[in-house]
Amino acid sequence: MIGVKKKCIGLIFGGLSNEHEISISSAKTVFQAFNSEINKQRFTVKAFYINKDGDWLDSDSSEKILIGVIENNKTIKQEIFNPEKINFLEGIEFQNVDVWFPLLHGFNGEDGSIHGLLRFTKKPLVGCGIIGSAIGMDKILMKTIFSNLNLPQVNYLVFQNEDLKCKEVKNKLVNEILKKLNFPVFVKPSNSGSSLGISKVINESEILPALEKAQEIDPRILVEEGLEVREIECGIIGNSKLLTSEIGEVKYESDWYDYDSKYYSNNKITIPAEIDPKIIKEIKEIAIQSCRALNIFGFARVDFFLEKSSNKILLNEVNTIPGFTKNSMFPMLWKASGLNIEQLVAKLVDISLDL
Ligand SMILES: Nc1ncnc2c1ncn2[C@@H]1O[C@H](COP(=O)(O)OP(=O)(O)O)[C@@H](O)[C@H]1O
Ligand SMILES: [Mg+2]
Repeated sequence: MIGVKKKCIGLIFGGLSNEHEISISSAKTVFQAFNSEINKQRFTVKAFYINKDGDWLDSDSSEKILIGVIENNKTIKQEIFNPEKINFLEGIEFQNVDVWFPLLHGFNGEDGSIHGLLRFTKKPLVGCGIIGSAIGMDKILMKTIFSNLNLPQVNYLVFQNEDLKCKEVKNKLVNEILKKLNFPVFVKPSNSGSSLGISKVINESEILPALEKAQEIDPRILVEEGLEVREIECGIIGNSKLLTSEIGEVKYESDWYDYDSKYYSNNKITIPAEIDPKIIKEIKEIAIQSCRALNIFGFARVDFFLEKSSNKILLNEVNTIPGFTKNSMFPMLWKASGLNIEQLVAKLVDISLDL
């Protein structure tokens, strides 16, 4: 590697999202991976932490968060944050970055906003573009496109900007759910992540509180028929050619895969999942189709349900900035497919450069 200029990776994390803490954990893993002996020969990392007010911190302070020297939500800049200030990038040194690696889960990041902002720097980034990110984040639009392509999904209803304070509206929504879907149903904000704002509803009396909870996050709500399912995930990397990882299955002790079971419990992950090879093949094909349909490339994790009673595959969602925490499925899937975390982050940069 002597004589080859090292690439400077701009690692962006934190952010204005309800997945702020997860983003910090993901960034810690990726930061370590770029700083491994092997990757240090090719890369340097410049960290960019966005605090919960949306203010960007300089790289020295950002790096201190990644190595645990300062607490993420007690930064000096945040204490003096002025809500009137719009120059949120003041003092931030972008110049040396060669490739961006935005690890902002959820809204104000994964939804395409960071991709739009970074486009102005004219530097490549790890992940897909604005459209794929925005649609991948919006469950309603994502499902609409999947259903246009007849990709298999659970039955669902969409409610947009309904006035839940109005009695007639409430009755109309409850009646429609009772008429068209079977219990249990899952009520979800169209834009969220990490299961935040989602409720599993088992009877009529729980419908309204669930709609209200979802509406606190997004006025656009999805209501899905809940099935007894196995949860299956597939990693995707690539550009013009998308590659699939091994297929993984996650089992948890709770009733469904809610926030706590995603991040605080000992889930059982099986890779490769014990599924009929014919079904595995189909899952991989649908994973690629779903990414193509939404113009998603770079990297993504496609999540499926496998209905227990019928073994039917149902496409759940595509995550365009999947978790990279120590317990996250995406790096595990690729490890089982022959790329350890150090190789994976390097590969993602190569993909962004079309190497
Ligand atoms: N239709 C459904 N049937 C059964 N379980 C569901 C259904 N929808 C969601 N779930 C459960 O809720 C979890 C979170 O839902 P998901 O739509 O993936 O939201 P998020 O984007 O927050 O991960 C799923 O992993 C699953 O455990
Ligand atoms: Mg999910």
